[in-house]
Amino acid sequence: MKKVTILTLALQKQNKIPLTMVTAYDYPTAFLVEKAGVDMVLVGDSLGMVVQGEENTLAVTVEEMIYHTKAVKKGLRRALLIVDMPFGSYKISVTEAVRNAHRVVKESGAEVVKLEGGQEIVETVQAIVQAGIPVMGHIGLRPQAINQMGGYKVQGKTREAAQKLLEDALALEKAGCCALVLEGMPDKVSEMITTQLQIPTIGIGAGVGCDGQVLVFHDLVGFGDGKCVPKFVKRYADIGNQVVEAVQNYCEEVRARQYPSADYTYTVKERED
Ligand code: KIV
Repeated sequence: MKKVTILTLALQKQNKIPLTMVTAYDYPTAFLVEKAGVDMVLVGDSLGMVVQGEENTLAVTVEEMIYHTKAVKKGLRRALLIVDMPFGSYKISVTEAVRNAHRVVKESGAEVVKLEGGQEIVETVQAIVQAGIPVMGHIGLRPQAINQMGGYKVQGKTREAAQKLLEDALALEKAGCCALVLEGMPDKVSEMITTQLQIPTIGIGAGVGCDGQVLVFHDLVGFGDGKCVPKFVKRYADIGNQVVEAVQNYCEEVRARQYPSADYTYTVKERED
């Protein structure tokens, strides 16, 4: 087992070996995705939606990211652990961004922090990298900018918008990012960005031409209320319906006094004399 580090990411891009990343928000999920051999685990602020049931990611706090990341950390050995800096934790000032990034890494054990944004966060990325923390960028559809984008809309659809995404990507690479998430953009745009960058790109809703892919764990395994599943999500399992079926069976057996049967019951030991 060779630990995945930011050096591995660069090497896999060089050798054209696709990178795999999924989200996790707790210990058992981390344990299982590690066992499955994923390269990177992201504690995404998507936890606001898939774990907390919020409509968007904006209310997630630094404390909540630390809480979930600490649990995930305990399930990982090989995979690289990345944590999202939540909305409001890195755009007020560069000093506050560095302070929050230090806090998150110190208290959670994450190895990389992820920030959403383009050229406007270059100074912040440089400062966090100089402070000794690897940074993953995130451009295209940025869930933390939902109110500015007017919804979860595919980005980079015009020539000008695609050019702006490329400029953002190049600026983030120059600022020291170790990798970039490309979310919600046409495949031609992500391919064009991927070929112009030295650092790896990790796509979500951005086509097959990226250096790797990421999916939200709950989407991948079909665990949740199933509302609003984007076009790019492929369900590799149907955990949600399995959970419903299991709990229905349990309820039926309890109501019929079939559970707990003798196999699941403690009894007083007979005297042996
Ligand atoms: O919050 C998250 O889970 C993410 C991924 C979708 C990339 O940012």
